[in-house]
Amino acid sequence: MGKLSEACEYIKENKNKVNPEYRLGYHAMGEIGWINDPNGFCFYKGEYHLFYQYHPYSSKWGPMHWGHIKSKDLISWEYMPVSLAPDMNYDIDGCFSGSAIEKDGKLYLMYTGLLNPNPDIPENVRQIQNIAVSEDGIEFKKVKENPVIDTKDIPEHGLPQDFRDPKVFKHGDEYYAVISSRNIDGSGEILVYKSKELLNWTYAGVMASSKNEYGKMWECPDLFKLGNYDMLLVSPQFLDDDGDRYHNVHSSIFMLGQFDFESSKYNFNFVDEIDYGFDFYAPQTLIDDKGRRILVAWMQMWDRKIPTNDKNHNWAGAMTLPRELKIIDGKLYQYPVDEIKNYRTNHVSYKDIKLKDILTLDKIEGQKIELELEVEFLEANTFGLNILKDEDQQTTMYYDKKEGKFNLDRSKNGEDLSGAEADNSGKRRVPVALNCNKLKLHIFIDRISVEIFIQDGERVMTSTVYPKSSAKKIEFFSEGEVVIKSLDKWDIRHI
Ligand code: FRU
Repeated sequence: MGKLSEACEYIKENKNKVNPEYRLGYHAMGEIGWINDPNGFCFYKGEYHLFYQYHPYSSKWGPMHWGHIKSKDLISWEYMPVSLAPDMNYDIDGCFSGSAIEKDGKLYLMYTGLLNPNPDIPENVRQIQNIAVSEDGIEFKKVKENPVIDTKDIPEHGLPQDFRDPKVFKHGDEYYAVISSRNIDGSGEILVYKSKELLNWTYAGVMASSKNEYGKMWECPDLFKLGNYDMLLVSPQFLDDDGDRYHNVHSSIFMLGQFDFESSKYNFNFVDEIDYGFDFYAPQTLIDDKGRRILVAWMQMWDRKIPTNDKNHNWAGAMTLPRELKIIDGKLYQYPVDEIKNYRTNHVSYKDIKLKDILTLDKIEGQKIELELEVEFLEANTFGLNILKDEDQQTTMYYDKKEGKFNLDRSKNGEDLSGAEADNSGKRRVPVALNCNKLKLHIFIDRISVEIFIQDGERVMTSTVYPKSSAKKIEFFSEGEVVIKSLDKWDIRHI
């Protein structure tokens, strides 16, 4: 049996061995095993397709396959057969991250083939770029021209062992691929390649570089037009923290700038972290038939404890809720996609509730819910919520007006989630301003995840947390008087 059918067979035979305790209700996950980066995220023939880095055989990273799900609305996903397995001499040790594009009605995947002949000699690793094509978006054939970008096509200053994660797009009559690379001086850079038909590629230059300033290797680039900008997303490894930013071991950042398609140079003037929480990496975007730019990221972080792995639950990793990106007055805003509203049920609503100290409200609790609230600060300095709470567990979030910062604290979430980063406090914060003395929060809780959209998507914090199934209370607190002007809560229907 080939490696692809072996993987599909294994999933079928073993998926009932997944321990459901921590499974999410309305987020994308693998059926069994390990997942990481979103790959090939695209809108094709009226449906959304999401592929992902996949090792079905254990809850740890291993030889990479591409898992595949598709959806009509970005929320209910249907499992598809595994689409790529490491079964050719140009990808034998892994089918690493990449992207998808439609051409002449066919779906093309461009991905990195990993060759690692001797794990004791990392300098011998080679990463090369390949193509697989499908007529129906389900079954993919690797093309005979592979590798379409080989080691010999890397410029002299690029290391052949770090050359991966092609993001392909079309501009005018030409295809472009932006690809992560590492300069011989150790810094990350993004290389540009051009092609007329997706099979023959020509090196076109370095578009941007970390210059050993913005972290090391820049993984998983994405480049697209948003508002008046060309926006570049990259995930730098080992980016040093800077004030409230970049406190995870690895980070995901965006830049706003202008890309010159002739010279392949990128002039950028703004860099910031995309999400100020704990678990957000390797985001990728698509544009759909409504013209929306939608982002999805791996809702996990490298080099951390993952309870579903430590407890042998036979799975690890999930995706964030898909988010729509917009630029308003030169600033990035992120919104949960509208489609999630169709899954709301059991609406509970409150208006104009005064709070001075601690408050709980009837029917405001749960582990798979959405909360929307607007709070006026009056004389108070802090206002916050304890969620996923019982006697000894809780996840806390609050705004501190004097500091002008929104805080997230998962140190009592229920499990040890420490990792390789210097800052293992379990706390993160982000600068935000009140708007006419008001704070708006839009919160999605899904069993082991919390996504907080602050001030209408101006900032986002995403985190995994591992409460007991009984820890579902919500408590509001303030120091000084506030008014909760409006509070809406929905359960989100299980998918
Ligand atoms: C990012 C990454 C990519 C690579 C993939 C391997 O998380 O390291 O650079 O292609 O994961 O699974």
